[in-house]
Amino acid sequence: MDQNELKKLVGEEAVKFIEDGMTVGLGTGSTVKFMVDALGERVKKEGLNIVGVPTSDRTAEQARSLGITVKSVDEVDHIDLTIDGADEISTDFQGIKGGGAAHLFEKIVATNSTKVMWIVDESKMVDQLGAFPLPLEVIPYGSQQVFNKLEKEGLHPEFRMTEDGQHVLTDSKNYVIDLHLGEIKNPHELADYLIKQVGIVEQGLFLDMVNTVIVGRQNGPEVLTARP
Ligand code: A5P
Repeated sequence: MDQNELKKLVGEEAVKFIEDGMTVGLGTGSTVKFMVDALGERVKKEGLNIVGVPTSDRTAEQARSLGITVKSVDEVDHIDLTIDGADEISTDFQGIKGGGAAHLFEKIVATNSTKVMWIVDESKMVDQLGAFPLPLEVIPYGSQQVFNKLEKEGLHPEFRMTEDGQHVLTDSKNYVIDLHLGEIKNPHELADYLIKQVGIVEQGLFLDMVNTVIVGRQNGPEVLTARP
């Protein structure tokens, strides 16, 4: 199976955990896209009564087009389960997210969910975080100053740009700075430092947050329990 087939596999496996009546957080990214497709199928075939809470405009649009009821995080009183992708997951189940510039909304939805599930192909499982650049969502005003400070700290920042040289904008119209760190020895310490910097709205380390990880392996999906 190639990477896309593994993503589809875990997307389809994840929707088996969704039960009638649930409010479900819908993540963002190419893996989640397969999951939302599979959920749309279940809604259509089984008349499943669920509410989806999307973490991006992209996911909201896809869910609506498939007939899934969509509400914003502020319109629901709880979220039973959030299913999202990830860019890297370490052996102790810490994660990097934000490769799709959606980590702020993803973190808001995840932290308001009873359970969090990540779905990934096996290439995302790593011994140590950091080979994938760590995304930061930053307010445009003063962002060059934030950048300069991060550079001085030796954190190798890079503004994320579009092919035609414009800043990539998040759904909140903020910029993204990626930190090219190579390895992250102490994720908690780094997360604490980053979130204290004025102008950084959210950083892409998702720590002590996930309950279940479904990994797409060549011989099938592997369901791992990170925390009860
Ligand atoms: C979106 O900002 C990210 O957090 C995604 O969840 C993550 O990048 C995984 O995306 P893919 O499923 O496309 O690899």
